[in-house]
Amino acid sequence: MTPAIQDATGVELHLVEDDEAMRSSVSRWLTLAGFTVHTHGRATALLPSLEYGAPAVVISDISMPGMSGLELQQALLKKDADLPVILFTGHGDIDMAVRAMRAGAYDFIEKPFDAERLLETVRRACEKRRLVLENRALQMQMQEIGGLHARLVGSSPAISHLKRQVLDAASVDANVLLVGETGTGKEVIARCLHDLSPRSQAPYVALNCAAIPATLAESELFGHEPGAFTSASQRRVGSLEQATEGTLFLDEVVSMPIDVQAKLLRVIEQREFCRLGSNRVRQANFRLVAAMNIEPREAMERGLLRNDLYYRFNILEFRIPPLRERKEDIPILFTMFAEQAAENYQRDMVYPDAGTVAALMGYDWPGNVRELKNVATRFILSPPAQGEPFIPFKAAASGVERPEIGLQEQVRAFERSLIEDALRRHNGNIRAVLEDLRLPRRTLNEKMQRYGLMREAAIQP
Ligand SMILES: Nc1ncnc2c1ncn2[C@@H]1O[C@H](COP(=O)(O)OP(=O)(O)OP(=O)(O)O)[C@@H](O)[C@H]1O
Ligand SMILES: [Mg+2]
Repeated sequence: MTPAIQDATGVELHLVEDDEAMRSSVSRWLTLAGFTVHTHGRATALLPSLEYGAPAVVISDISMPGMSGLELQQALLKKDADLPVILFTGHGDIDMAVRAMRAGAYDFIEKPFDAERLLETVRRACEKRRLVLENRALQMQMQEIGGLHARLVGSSPAISHLKRQVLDAASVDANVLLVGETGTGKEVIARCLHDLSPRSQAPYVALNCAAIPATLAESELFGHEPGAFTSASQRRVGSLEQATEGTLFLDEVVSMPIDVQAKLLRVIEQREFCRLGSNRVRQANFRLVAAMNIEPREAMERGLLRNDLYYRFNILEFRIPPLRERKEDIPILFTMFAEQAAENYQRDMVYPDAGTVAALMGYDWPGNVRELKNVATRFILSPPAQGEPFIPFKAAASGVERPEIGLQEQVRAFERSLIEDALRRHNGNIRAVLEDLRLPRRTLNEKMQRYGLMREAAIQP
């Protein structure tokens, strides 16, 4: 194998051997073959440095002073059961070799070793390690995507793009600005960004800037010591401090008084702050997610948002599209909210008929997903009588708002919603969906392709 190919695996070797001559000759041989080799004279020198998921293969002598190779192997496998450990055994020590293999060693090499056999074994072990790590990374990604699909429901191109952005941004520590109309899901996304981030075990602190009186905004953020101002009788820990090591979500940030915005800017720049009435400097260690439901440009023009703060916030700026721009998500969201309402209020689930779906698709949803959720709840609490149409909104009742889309489009939307719903109900089990919808497999495949439906997206974690 050439060095270049070897490097591509990214797996490095750790050689543990107390005999110095042996150590350097094996190490030289493996290095010449293109491997990156770290050498250790004692098992205890290696053990603390290898953790779960290390891109490593261990080659160790068995009999060494202090911790033996077998003990090292046991300790390593406790950290990571899939870590390949290759052991050197004395010539003819079959007993020992068998014991090592039983105890989970990857392989053993008899001393004096045959160089070609050593190389071959090491190559196979590296390849196995690479596959294990790749597989783990993939599984993790699937879990994350699965979790996100369940929370940020919808499969329109707009929402799929947003989900990819959220996944990509979750592990990056940059500030994020969410811009979207009321009820589009900004809070849902802020929470997903936290839960999928390395900070997920630390607090998630949400502060709705519109809900606090302007005079209290500063002390809400910074906290205060007793006596810091007239009404401050007790110590208060502010949001900046509560969010330590976690995520701070500043909702409706344009409602924050301009002078407090200036102070927040300083915190972001200097990464430190003091409680009001205290000189003690505290570290600002949080990831900031901010949200607003008007255009940042308009907010700045109207003097509601400081330009300099905006440029600090918007390292990553996500646009949450209004529901009217992703109408294909309406049926699945509606069905999901109806199911939730049926469960919450202990009512029978009622599925929307074609007329209802068409009416839902024809409306513009100024209150976005929140409004849809309310309508779905009402649909369950007072379902239409048999044969009666469901009238989702007053405007539609008076005949002012009629579906603006044609019959074909309505039929397609309904068909798509039925398939998407069946996929969800059967947790992505295609066989069950085929039976449920009484469709031949090929037809289902074609339709799923046409509507951009994915089996994976329907699987609940
Ligand atoms: N894609 C989605 N999938 C599932 N539920 C959603 C989705 N988008 C929004 N919701 C739900 O809709 C409701 C409104 O969402 P959210 O509170 O996140 O909106 P918002 O953008 O923060 O609104 P506002 O600007 O009014 O604060 C919530 O109940 C939320 O759970
Ligand atoms: Mg909100």
